[in-house]
Amino acid sequence: MSKEIILTGDRPTGKLHIGHYIGSLKNRVLLQNTGKYDPYIMIADTQALTDNARNPEKIRNSLIEVALDYLAVGLDPEKSTIFVQSQIPALFELSMDYMDLVTLARLERNPTVKTEIKQKNFGDSVPVGFVTYPIAQAADITAFKASLVPVGDDQEPMLEQAREIVRTFNRTYNVDVLVEPKGYFPPKGQGRLPGLDGNAKMSKSLGNCIYLADDAETVKKKVMSMYTDPDHIHVEDPGKVEGNTVFTYLDVFDPDKDKVAQLKEDYQKGGLGDVKIKRYLNKVLEAELAPIRERREKYAQDTDAVYDMLYAGSQKANAVANETLQEVRDAIGFNYFKNRG
Ligand code: TRP
Repeated sequence: MSKEIILTGDRPTGKLHIGHYIGSLKNRVLLQNTGKYDPYIMIADTQALTDNARNPEKIRNSLIEVALDYLAVGLDPEKSTIFVQSQIPALFELSMDYMDLVTLARLERNPTVKTEIKQKNFGDSVPVGFVTYPIAQAADITAFKASLVPVGDDQEPMLEQAREIVRTFNRTYNVDVLVEPKGYFPPKGQGRLPGLDGNAKMSKSLGNCIYLADDAETVKKKVMSMYTDPDHIHVEDPGKVEGNTVFTYLDVFDPDKDKVAQLKEDYQKGGLGDVKIKRYLNKVLEAELAPIRERREKYAQDTDAVYDMLYAGSQKANAVANETLQEVRDAIGFNYFKNRG
C-alpha cells in the first residue's frame, strides 16, 4: 500500500531559527519517523526569489544553511526526499496552467499575502510573482499529490487556495488527477514562538531570533537579554508571567511542566529574579539545541556531500513531478505528441 504523501518547505532567505523549529520542523521530524508517510521537503528558492529577485546571492548562500538546518534537526534523506524547487521545471508549467483557474480578485483576498505585502513595503511595486505565489505553492503541493502539508498557522490560506485549485482543475477537465491537501498544524498555542524582544513573531528582519546554528555562548547571551515583565524591577516584587517571553518559552520547551508551574507561582509571589529564570531557561534550551548544533557542525564539515544529497533528492522529485505533469497535460489535452517517442 502506498504511503500518504507529505510536502512542505521553507524559503531560503537565511538560517532557520527556533521559531521555525517549533512551528514546523519538529513536527516534520516526528511525522517522518513514524514511517507512515512519504515526505517531500522542498527548499523553496524560486519562491524566495519572489521578493528577492535583485538579491539572488542571499538565496544561493541560504540554500546550504537551510539544508544543514534540516539535517541538524533530524530530517533524514533516507526517509524524506529533500530537494530544491528551482530544479523541478514541472512546477512552473503546472503553475502556469493553474493561473488560468484563479481570478486576480481571489488572489488579492488571500489574507497571508495581503499581510505580507504590507509588511514588505512594496508600495505600488508588488512583483507579479509575489501575488501569485499561492498558485505556485499549489503547484508544489499537487505535483507530488501530497495530502498532508505540515506548516505554520499562517499558511492555512495557502492550503485553502490550493484546495480550490484542485477542485476547479478536476471539475473543469473532468478528471480525478489532483489531490486535495490538508494542513498539519502544531498544537494550539505552540505554533508561533514570540521573538526575544516579546514581539509576537520571531523573525530575521526583527533581529529577535535564536538560530539553530547559534553557539552555546550566543544562545546564552540572547536568553539573558530576553524581554520579561518590564515592571518586575526588584527581585522581591511580584512579577507577571503572561506576556513574559521567558515563561512562554518555558511552556513550549520544558518537558517538566510541574517545575514550570512552580516557577510561575514563585515569580508571581515575588522573590524570584529574572536572572535566575533566564539561567534556567538557558539550561532547558541547551538540552534541546545542543544535539542539533552538534549534528549541524558535523554536516557542515562536508558541504559537498550535502549538495550531493540535494541533487539526488531533486532528481527523484523531478521524476515524480514529471509524472503528474503528464497527467495534467493529458487532462487538458496538451498531449499531441504522446505516441511519437
Ligand atoms: N510559503 C512557505 C513558507 O514561507 C514555503 C513553501 C513553499 C511551502 N512552497 C510550499 C510550504 C509548499 C508548504 C507547501 O514557509
